[in-house]
Amino acid sequence: GHGASHVFVILGASGDLAKKKIYPTLWWLFRDGLLPPKTHFIGYARSNLTLEEVKKSCLPHMKAVAGEEGKLKEFFKLNEYVAGSYDKTEDFQKLNKAIEQRGSCNRLFYLALPPSVFETVTLNIKALCMAKGDKWTRIVVEKPFGRDLESSNQLSRHLAALFKEEELYRIDHYLGKEMVQNLMVLRFGNRIFSPIWNRENVASIVISFKEPFGTQGRGGYFDEFGILRDVMQNHLLQILTLVAMEKPPSTSSEDIRNEKVKVLRSIPCPSMDNVVLGQYVGNPHGDNETRMGYLDDTTVPKGSVTPTFATVVLYVKNERWDGVPFILRCGKALNERKAEVRVQFKDVAGDIFPAGEVKRNELVIRVQPSEAIYMKMMAKTPGMSINCEESELDLTYGSRYRDVKMPDAYERLLLDVFMGSQIHFVRSDELFEAWRIFTPLLHYIEKEKPKPIEYTYGSRGPTESDQLMTRTGFSYTGSYIWKSTSTG
Ligand code: BG6
Repeated sequence: GHGASHVFVILGASGDLAKKKIYPTLWWLFRDGLLPPKTHFIGYARSNLTLEEVKKSCLPHMKAVAGEEGKLKEFFKLNEYVAGSYDKTEDFQKLNKAIEQRGSCNRLFYLALPPSVFETVTLNIKALCMAKGDKWTRIVVEKPFGRDLESSNQLSRHLAALFKEEELYRIDHYLGKEMVQNLMVLRFGNRIFSPIWNRENVASIVISFKEPFGTQGRGGYFDEFGILRDVMQNHLLQILTLVAMEKPPSTSSEDIRNEKVKVLRSIPCPSMDNVVLGQYVGNPHGDNETRMGYLDDTTVPKGSVTPTFATVVLYVKNERWDGVPFILRCGKALNERKAEVRVQFKDVAGDIFPAGEVKRNELVIRVQPSEAIYMKMMAKTPGMSINCEESELDLTYGSRYRDVKMPDAYERLLLDVFMGSQIHFVRSDELFEAWRIFTPLLHYIEKEKPKPIEYTYGSRGPTESDQLMTRTGFSYTGSYIWKSTSTG
């Protein structure tokens, strides 16, 4: 029959997020047979579009290949499009009718919407579109979750008045990445790391996010947030919690999220001398794109002091971590694309080798690109030499797991929503703590408008950042370069 088991509603179906991420992700899940049978899809947005037009705008992002035409047709057969406003009761009645047409089913609402319509849309869903009887409703939301502690709390209160926490799925797509999910197994599934995972042995932990491109014409949007809200307060802080938290009593989502909240609560707000802010300027010797500084983006307000780079040192004031710097560093328009966690261990005590020869051990979890875990360690230079040199124990996914296809973060996360697993989603008290940590810094920037340090497009960022890292406990020798052994 025509009945559906699940209906997935994409609100904001004509927007960028929907066409670039959500539709393609649903298609990949469908193509791979991962969705529950009889899942249907409804796009909803203000524009008067046909399904054919929605399809046309999504197709370039769906990466369908020859041979998949039949499947693709099947997928779009399960789709429909409903046009309606975000504030009119009768339009949401119409949406509800469209869902009811599919019979009694579970309902998923993905809010790919600007924050300005967020409140009215959720009110309308609650009033008119909830599943009935034994069927469930789940709401998926994306950042921005407010812009500081107060506005985020307001949004949280609004949502809490309408939905239960079990119905809310707050996406931080970094929680859908292989290596971020791997942190739990690495830490709690191995005997070797837990005894050294503490202030006695760890000198510093660096969590980095680097992108080699600027705002690419999205500057006007970016300028309202800045790199701290765009990447650090969410993605990097989420990684920090998984690196620093205590072992949860089980792998249930509530046990894990309780531990994440607990570790966040031990983190005081950063002090201003542990912050470096930067903004990129064009490289006069570069090619087209790299000649453009942030302020040359015509969509960016003149004289903006919004940081596109930031290094912030946080401390976890608990028995395990007191005094160990957690250095969060992120930036746009840098020299490379890379996201990683680098746990640097203390110097060897009572070193017997020639001064300076022995370097610190580091455990590196490379999130992207080319997922890898490697332990930087000293070994004897092979052959006749009696010197020590830096080498590594290397688990590079591209060579060790050659034939494994890594799903995209959104594929895992959307599937989790269908399955009802909240492990990889942000709970409201986690969000509260994340904003608590960063709000004083964000307000300081808004009030005092400190001028960010200029760095050149394509560089490593401000040297002040390296100085801050050195001062707080990260030792950089530059004598070792990791070479990916991945051939794929
Ligand atoms: C987003 C930020 O959350 O993450 C973007 O808004 C950033 O500015 C992106 O580019 C990075 O995600 P990924 O998965 O490409 O590392």
